[in-house]
Amino acid sequence: MAGIMDTVSNLINKITGPAEEVPREPSADEFKHLQKKYTDAGQGQVFAFVDELETVDKSRLYHQLSTFDVTRINELADRALNPPKTEETAATLEPLPASATASIIDSDPTDLKNWYNAGLKEVADNKVAVVLMAGGQGTRLGSSAPKGCFDIGLLSEKSLFQLQAERIVKLQELANQAHGTQSAVIPWYVMTSGPTRKPTEEFFEKNKFFGLSKENVFIFEQGVLPCISNDGKIIMESKSKVAVAPDGNGGIYQAIVTSGVREDMRKRGIQHIHAYCVDNCLVKVADPVFIGFSASKKVDIATKVVRKRDAAESVGLILQKNGKPDVVEYSEIDQATAEAKDPKDPELLKFRAANIVNHYYSFSFFESIENWMHKLPHHVARKKIPHVDPESGEAVKPTSPNGVKLEQFVFDVFPMTPLEKFACIEVRREDEFSPLKNAAGTGQDDPDTSRADIMKQGQRWIEAAGGIVVTEGDKFGVEVSPLISYGGENLEFLQGREIKAPAIIEKEED
Ligand code: UD1
Repeated sequence: MAGIMDTVSNLINKITGPAEEVPREPSADEFKHLQKKYTDAGQGQVFAFVDELETVDKSRLYHQLSTFDVTRINELADRALNPPKTEETAATLEPLPASATASIIDSDPTDLKNWYNAGLKEVADNKVAVVLMAGGQGTRLGSSAPKGCFDIGLLSEKSLFQLQAERIVKLQELANQAHGTQSAVIPWYVMTSGPTRKPTEEFFEKNKFFGLSKENVFIFEQGVLPCISNDGKIIMESKSKVAVAPDGNGGIYQAIVTSGVREDMRKRGIQHIHAYCVDNCLVKVADPVFIGFSASKKVDIATKVVRKRDAAESVGLILQKNGKPDVVEYSEIDQATAEAKDPKDPELLKFRAANIVNHYYSFSFFESIENWMHKLPHHVARKKIPHVDPESGEAVKPTSPNGVKLEQFVFDVFPMTPLEKFACIEVRREDEFSPLKNAAGTGQDDPDTSRADIMKQGQRWIEAAGGIVVTEGDKFGVEVSPLISYGGENLEFLQGREIKAPAIIEKEED
């Protein structure tokens, strides 16, 4: 047993990484060698203040710079700042073909039931894992804490992390009940970044992993890339530190490999992976229907979509580009494409399959990450990046964008997948997608809309189970604890009961 525990704790250390230590002091030769490498690459400005630094700061700078391949950074920066001006033939964009799509809305109920049952069996057999992308910084939300810690104002005051964790707890229980097992485990791999890792770990510890077993929750960290000035130079945040930013949610692939997550999945015999974003309070974590659907299609990748609200909604579009599955991101789409109408029904947008970042991967596909990881492109986000002036050494807070952050996108792997290995399923927005993007009071995709969507969903579930929800004026909705119901099941005990909104159902006797 002790042996197993040692292995587990080694694994956790491997996945979570060691705590920050005082760095080893490099030898004069080592330092000179690194300095030459950067200077030869035209990035010698990173050493501008090296003579003023204390030994420990000099060591830190050395170790930080050693983690980057400066030649590769130059290549990425050059490609990002000077995109090739080849006469690009316009890409052909089309909605995905019917053969690659299905819809929860008009699927045969027998198919839905079969997918659900098959997915739940995979959970009972411990073949399903969940990867949460939680490395973003929530700048639009205006909160410095990780988004998952956010309390959207529910009666229970549960955070987004807690809602998601409790859905995992419940699903394990449902799988055990359905299959007479007692040990269904859905491991939860939580990807954080430099800025979100520590507060995320502390939040999980403080909340006792929300009822999950600690050994089945893995907090790991994605990579970072240096921020680059508009003329291609690496930006210094301080005299001894490069300004860095998380490498985008597409950093998930590299991080899964380097952090030991994939190895852990392999040891556990995981076959199916559900990856999703932290900001969606309605996310159906490890959704058995989605797992069963994807497994039955034997695809490498599948994704869920909802119908796009209107042409201006900030969502990516799932489509085919030059005959391959792809996403056109909202920041990169032209107006004519966004507004194009469906020739078969001019009431509808032609491109309306909104990306809700609920992706399925087969584990065998994860085995091929090394084959294509280096081909993922880097997207440019122009930002105001605080820095130290390389001449004067003074701290500068720019008022207009002075540089770029380079980001990979999780969906950029789609075009590398043949259409027959890709599937897409449309789901109901009101049941599965309510993202938290904006600060309170914005009126769209903010904490108020998140809370309202949970409350409305609970009310619908209770009414469908024969309960009576009494609403009055602006008082509506019922918060149903995920520990009671994962997706509307198990609420028969409320049949005929009158519930005055707003209410909360936390226990069967509530
Ligand atoms: C994302 C999608 C967009 C989709 C929309 C739906 C991408 C690239 N874009 O856009 O197509 O329609 O969500 O809500 O997927 N994250 C990291 N590390 C990072 C950056 C982000 O883990 O370095 C995580 C965030 O924590 C979040 C998720 O990725 O969970 C999405 O990030 P966000 O910046 O909110 O994406 P959007 O621009 O809204």
